[in-house]
Amino acid sequence: MTDTTEHQATATAIANNTNDDADRSPILALDNVSYSYVKGGKKVIHDLSYAFEAGKVYAITGPSGAGKTTVLSLLSGLTSPTEGRILYRGQDLAKTDRYRFRSHDIGVIFQSFNLLPSLSVEENIILSMDASGKQFDRPKHDIAIGLLAKVRLAQEYANERILHLSGGEQQRVAIARALSYDPDIIIADEPTGNLDMSTQDDIMAIFKDLAHAEGKCVIIVTHSPDVAQQSDEVFQLAALRKR
Ligand SMILES: Nc1ncnc2c1ncn2[C@@H]1O[C@H](COP(=O)(O)OP(=O)(O)O)[C@@H](O)[C@H]1O
Ligand SMILES: [Mg+2]
Repeated sequence: MTDTTEHQATATAIANNTNDDADRSPILALDNVSYSYVKGGKKVIHDLSYAFEAGKVYAITGPSGAGKTTVLSLLSGLTSPTEGRILYRGQDLAKTDRYRFRSHDIGVIFQSFNLLPSLSVEENIILSMDASGKQFDRPKHDIAIGLLAKVRLAQEYANERILHLSGGEQQRVAIARALSYDPDIIIADEPTGNLDMSTQDDIMAIFKDLAHAEGKCVIIVTHSPDVAQQSDEVFQLAALRKR
C-alpha cells in the first residue's frame, strides 16, 4: 500500500467520523499518534488521528501486524505514544491520572480474556470491582448478577469456575467483568476471534446494545469483515510498509 493511500484512508476515516453530529464531542481520540517499540525501534504506528464518540460501535481492522493491538494498548492507557497525544474527553492522558482512567473510565477485554481460571464467575467480576476502588451504590453481588443478565448468561453461572466454561461463555464473563465498574468506554481485542458464527452474532448484539441503548463507546479490534460490517464505523489500519 502506498503512502498516499494510507493517508487517504485516515483522512476518510476522520471525515466520516466527525461530520454526522457536529455538537457531539469525541470521548476518546488519537491525536497525531506515533509509536515505536523500544525493542527493534520500528515505527509501528505512524501519525494516526481518529476520534471516537459515545453511543457507537467502532471496528478497528487491518491485516495481522498492522498495529491493532498496539492501538488498543495506546487507547487504553497501557502504553504512552512516542509522539502525539491520546485525549480522553479532551484531556491528554499523559497529563492525567492514567490509573484512574484505566480503573474507572475504560473496560478492556483482552484477547486471552485474562480471567482467573480457578475462581468463579462472580469472584472474577467482583475482583475487578474491588480493584477499581470505586464506590458502588448496590451490593456487589447484585451488580454481578445484573451483569450476567446483560451478557446473556444464566444466573446459575455465578458460582461456576471459569475453567468449566466454553470459549463463548468466557467471552461473556470477560465482557461482564469489563462492565463491572460501569466505564464509558469498552475496548475489546478480537472478541469474536475463536467463536462460531451464532455466538459471534450474539456477542455483537451485546456490544451494539451497550452502545445504542446505554450510550457507551465500544471499540472492537477485529480482522473479521463480518464484525466490521455490523459496526457503526470502521477504522482501517493499513498494512505496515517496509521501512
Ligand atoms: N512488544 C513488542 N516489541 C517489539 N515489537 C512489537 C511488540 N509488540 C508488537 N510488535 C510489532 O509491532 C507490529 C504491530 O503489532 P500488533 O499491534 O500486535 O499488530 P496486530 O494486532 O494488528 O496484529 C508487529 O510488527 C509486531 O511484530
Ligand atoms: Mg493483535
